[in-house]
Amino acid sequence: MDWHVLEEVLDPLPVFHGWMREAETTEPNDPNAAALATATKDGYPSVRMVLVKRVDDQGFCFYTNAESRKGRELTINARAALCFHWKSLRRQVRVEGPVVELSAEDADQYFHSRSRVSQLGAAVSQQSRPLESRKRLEELVKQFGAEHPGEVPRPESWKGYAVRPERIELWMDGEYRLHNRFLFVRQGDGWTRTRLFP
Ligand SMILES: Cc1cc2nc3c(=O)[nH]c(=O)nc-3n(C[C@H](O)[C@H](O)[C@H](O)COP(=O)(O)O)c2cc1C
Repeated sequence: MDWHVLEEVLDPLPVFHGWMREAETTEPNDPNAAALATATKDGYPSVRMVLVKRVDDQGFCFYTNAESRKGRELTINARAALCFHWKSLRRQVRVEGPVVELSAEDADQYFHSRSRVSQLGAAVSQQSRPLESRKRLEELVKQFGAEHPGEVPRPESWKGYAVRPERIELWMDGEYRLHNRFLFVRQGDGWTRTRLFP
């Protein structure tokens, strides 16, 4: 895509979807991976990668353990920022906004769509808490699997969240580091668009 096109864009979401489709063909792994930034109430930040499983009317959706560090931060400060970087395309997308929890039905559906071992891993993981050894984790997975030969129950703390985009910035690499940045800010049903200095 030529950057001139961005000067005419009214809605950043179709551009995001187009870039994601391209990234699916160019990135060696996880084109849907994004850095997710959260913060404590007093502004202490933390960041880690997550997989954005879909982008729909609810927002940019990802799944995690609500008792993890990010989950605890989202409970006290329900705002987040996401940053996608597709190295092969030299493009970046930044998304910011309030975060909402997805329904239990939604979490169930996604949880059970994963492989059995992934479900067992998620079920026994006390994400972000100290773990004495790898062996302990493997024992827990084995034990939980033996206790649940049929469907693996989803732990209540394993949830989906959606970042509802209030601000989206599309960034395209430019020659001599004269990059192209377009900031879109939600305004009612539409967006305002502003070009930013690189
Ligand atoms: C490419 C990639 C994708 C990841 N996707 C997820 C994810 O979708 N959900 C998740 O809980 N952790 C995911 N992780 C692990 C997180 O980065 C992180 O280690 C974990 O969620 C604990 O983070 P926290 O202690 O800040 O809560 C992913 C890691 C990588 C490198």
